[in-house]
Amino acid sequence: MKITRLLFLCLVPLFYCQILAAQRDASPASATNPSSCHDASFVASSGNNFRGDGECGATFNDDGGGGIDVDTRDVILRFLDCTTKRDEIVEEDDRPFHIQGWRWHSMSLIRDSRRLERLSRHLANITKDRDDEESSFGFEALERAANYVINFNMAGLFRIQSVFLNFLRKHLCDEESLGLFSEGENYAAEADAFRKLIDAIDKGRDRSEHVGRQLYDSANASSKSSESFQNKQRLLGEVARSSRRLVDLLASMRKLQETLIVPAISRVIPSKVQKSFNSKVLLSLGLLESRLHLVGMYDTVWESEIEAEKVKFEKEIPYVARMMIERWRQSLYIPKAGALDYGLSI
Ligand SMILES: *[C@@H]1O[C@H](CO)[C@@H](O)[C@H](O)[C@H]1NC(C)=O
Ligand SMILES: *[C@@H]1O[C@H](CO)[C@@H](O)[C@H](O)[C@H]1NC(C)=O
Repeated sequence: MKITRLLFLCLVPLFYCQILAAQRDASPASATNPSSCHDASFVASSGNNFRGDGECGATFNDDGGGGIDVDTRDVILRFLDCTTKRDEIVEEDDRPFHIQGWRWHSMSLIRDSRRLERLSRHLANITKDRDDEESSFGFEALERAANYVINFNMAGLFRIQSVFLNFLRKHLCDEESLGLFSEGENYAAEADAFRKLIDAIDKGRDRSEHVGRQLYDSANASSKSSESFQNKQRLLGEVARSSRRLVDLLASMRKLQETLIVPAISRVIPSKVQKSFNSKVLLSLGLLESRLHLVGMYDTVWESEIEAEKVKFEKEIPYVARMMIERWRQSLYIPKAGALDYGLSI
């Protein structure tokens, strides 16, 4: 209790300071070097070979996962490329990205969807020729696990994401705020491309929610003792397939996020405005919910074994909060999410 109170006292002033600081310094980074990079003919030239798909490693138009068309992608890539050129002399720290919580939360949801698929396949295996009390524990665990992933983790991510997308619309779909890079030029095409990109991410959310609802309903139904053995096995298959579908949808949203949204934010939205957005998210999530998400994000980052990601985590998450993660895992996370590891030795 004492430590909890201490943490609260430490964090709350920090958030408010960030908010105050952000309001004071809402003026974007100055753009003193009007670039010739952006002009109408440059944008109008067909961009299909601007950056080949092979070079990017993947296509952006995937199977209904909320992709965007090639022209839209190229307008954005060209915008990012231009501002990179203009900023060549600028230090890395001057193009910061602070809204890491969104990235880690997305990564954590992808990981949880994979764990859900693993759990349902495991249960299908161990219950395929038995219908006893032990297998009914397994189905109850599946319902709890799906409830955590869909009705808590995914619901939380998308609730914040809808606020986040409005924040992005304000900054990235606004010709004036894009025009700060080179005053007096027309940024209508870029603003329009960002609008399509954000719409695509929102569409991905809509589809993921739909798949998530089906997934949870199947898991819930499978846990009912009134269901026949055959039906339970069929529902397990449904849960496994929906989890896989969800992983694919979320992964294609994440690709748009990493390749286009993150670099755009780091170039267009001032550091302090980003930080004040983070504070609003934490305040709106509330302490209990943000602690649960934090444990999931921590596990995801550490499991990823990406050093740079761990460094960012230690930089963005206050020390006091990081110190509490193991305790929150025991007291909060395992009771709610532990079912994801049912029957698996970890
Ligand atoms: C299925 O379960 C058996 C033991 O119950 C195990 O040996 C086997 O590896 C499992 N197969 C899969 C695909 O999980
Ligand atoms: C689970 O299924 C039961 C009906 O079998 C339903 O009453 C309940 O609302 C479902 N739970 C959720 C969270 O949808």
